[in-house]
Amino acid sequence: MKETILSGMRPTGKLHLGNLEGALKQWVSLQDKYRCFWMIADWHALTTGYEKAEEIKGNVLEVALDFLSAGLDPEKSAIFRQSDVKEHAELHLLLSMITPTPWLIRNPTVKEQARDMGLISGEEEEMVKINYGLLGYPVLQAADILIYKASFVPVGKDQLSHLEITREIARRFNYLYKPIFPEPQPIVGEYPLILGTDGRKMSKSYDNCIFLSDSPDEIRVKVANMFTDPRRIYRSDPGHPDECPVFHFHLVYNSENSAEIKVECKTAQIGCVDCKKLCAEALVKSLEPIRERRSKLEASPSLLFDILQEGARMAREVASATIEEVREAIGAW
Ligand code: TRP
Ligand code: SF4
Repeated sequence: MKETILSGMRPTGKLHLGNLEGALKQWVSLQDKYRCFWMIADWHALTTGYEKAEEIKGNVLEVALDFLSAGLDPEKSAIFRQSDVKEHAELHLLLSMITPTPWLIRNPTVKEQARDMGLISGEEEEMVKINYGLLGYPVLQAADILIYKASFVPVGKDQLSHLEITREIARRFNYLYKPIFPEPQPIVGEYPLILGTDGRKMSKSYDNCIFLSDSPDEIRVKVANMFTDPRRIYRSDPGHPDECPVFHFHLVYNSENSAEIKVECKTAQIGCVDCKKLCAEALVKSLEPIRERRSKLEASPSLLFDILQEGARMAREVASATIEEVREAIGAW
């Protein structure tokens, strides 16, 4: 039997090239070798977005479309929404009973999130100011992972501290009750750095993203407006491609021509306008399969709902068996 993988994303809006290169491409490549669960973590989105809860519903569909158009395949994997599998909530509650609060207060990722939201200024003592749900974020994440007895969790580096807490909780459960949970290992891939159109890291909060759902013309406009080498003022100035975000896109999406472009930029043989045109066309071409899959899905809206329902059904089958085992191991019922 194949080993199990689970990963997830919070539905905070459309996915961009950073998500594609940093997560989705790897997820797609894991689908054949593993039994995979790809989750849209809508309850997790509430931990910080509870005041804009009405946005979550639409964002879930947006992310589901992005997942599928990036190549996650419902024939191979369960693609589902967290809140459709209530067993996550029960396991979260049960795990919360055995999770020492200091494990959560020390958690650097939640602390950073709380700092980013302006809830605390960064000190551990201040963590008492944040909502219970946000403090418990890693416990819910542990439930997400353990309910499928996942062996591996592909995640970004920022999620490693959460995964460490998952392992600690699994160990504690196994010791207190019965050894039913494997300790999941992270899979941290090597990804190309994806810069945004302004040369900073691509991130929704910087408004510098190219989205998977952008049309060819939107991509062309965004690339045309990109920052370039700040030292190259005139067309005749030699450029410094390594300091230019456009060149970073060439490296990833136009790799076969990037060596030539590098030379032409450094020797001022190519101007930025032409270089950007080449870049935009390469990008449009690489994203073609994604756009194709998306337009097929958009043509039959009920398909998306059916896929999410079927994904939830597959997930529930495993989750309900685990929760039975958990109840039995705890022995209170
Ligand atoms: N915390 C993850 C993020 O912000 C989302 C997530 C929720 C997740 N549950 C998970 C990731 C379980 C991996 C496994 O991106
Ligand atoms: Fe950047 Fe291309 Fe202009 Fe060089 S020619 S500075 S790589 S946009």
